[in-house]
Amino acid sequence: MAETVKGADNFEQYLVEHPIIGSPENLYDAMNYIMQLGGKRMRPKLLLMAYESCAGTISEDALQLALAIETFHNFSLVHDDIMDNAPIRRGQQTVHKKWDNATAILAGDNLLIKCYELILKTEIKNKVEILQLFTKTATEVCEGQQMDVDMPLQKNVTEEGYLEMIKLKTAVLPACALKIGALAANSDSAIANEFYNFGLNLGMAFQLQDDYLDTFGTAEEIGKQVGGDISENKKTILYLHAMKNSDSDLRNKLESWYTGKVHDGALKIEEVRQIFMQRKSDIYLLQLKKEYEVRARLYLTNVCTDQQVNLIFLQLLNSLESRKK
Ligand code: IPE
Ligand code: IPE
Ligand code: MG
Ligand code: MG
Ligand code: MG
Repeated sequence: MAETVKGADNFEQYLVEHPIIGSPENLYDAMNYIMQLGGKRMRPKLLLMAYESCAGTISEDALQLALAIETFHNFSLVHDDIMDNAPIRRGQQTVHKKWDNATAILAGDNLLIKCYELILKTEIKNKVEILQLFTKTATEVCEGQQMDVDMPLQKNVTEEGYLEMIKLKTAVLPACALKIGALAANSDSAIANEFYNFGLNLGMAFQLQDDYLDTFGTAEEIGKQVGGDISENKKTILYLHAMKNSDSDLRNKLESWYTGKVHDGALKIEEVRQIFMQRKSDIYLLQLKKEYEVRARLYLTNVCTDQQVNLIFLQLLNSLESRKK
């Protein structure tokens, strides 16, 4: 009965019923704006699914933890959009464009602080362990984001280095969400760690798909500006693969797009996209993504002996695999 695990469906309503209250008004408007802007809610759903698969039901505390994880994710998006010069998020203006940089920085800071408030308010036995994992994860995300910011100016970025960076900036958070769900439900640490590894591999596949869509998706689908990674000279797997598999002429061309002063941003995006396709870098990326999905599935079989729960996780994994946004 796939319908037995459905607590995750309650999340959106819980979020809408729990806006963040405070003043000055513009600070809290900016925080609630990003929180209510939609989004896939993947991380809180993962937390609730792990919790429900271990505890058999959903609790108020679990919903509060899920809200904390989504709040953290939204903090990271607000600051990420400043770092990436992104004008659009979830199909709407980004916070720093709608307000200004100062408000966006403070809205992000305060969202992060609210996560701690939410976790502290729960009455969960493993609260300290959950706070330790959450804090470690938050630090890793900041480290990954700094690596992401640094890479465009670095020479000799390797595929291995890139994968380490996306592990930190993106994959550790779904992993943390799943493990918190398991810990909050008092499951033993072996199970909680399997959930973590499932999330880590899922998160890697998720970021690779995000990179693919940034270049090959449409603005309507992804709710972001297409080609943002190319504009910002992000040395994604697409770029690294194309550089490695081109003759010196093409390599020089690609390199000059990524270092030269660009006068026509649209032309740069189109030309670079053509090079990626010509070198089949898109196919390479999708293949690599598949490898992480296979690994995620393996961990899932270890963690979930319940066939029905397993099915729901698999459905989620499949929906992310083919996701267009
Ligand atoms: C965007 O995350 C940031 C990444 C880690 C790629 P999502 O794609 O989950 O964004 P929303 O929450 O659905 O908008
Ligand atoms: C964002 O990675 C990771 C975090 C927000 C921590 P991206 O910069 O690729 O995410 P998008 O594409 O802007 O959503
Ligand atoms: Mg970024
Ligand atoms: Mg970004
Ligand atoms: Mg991206």
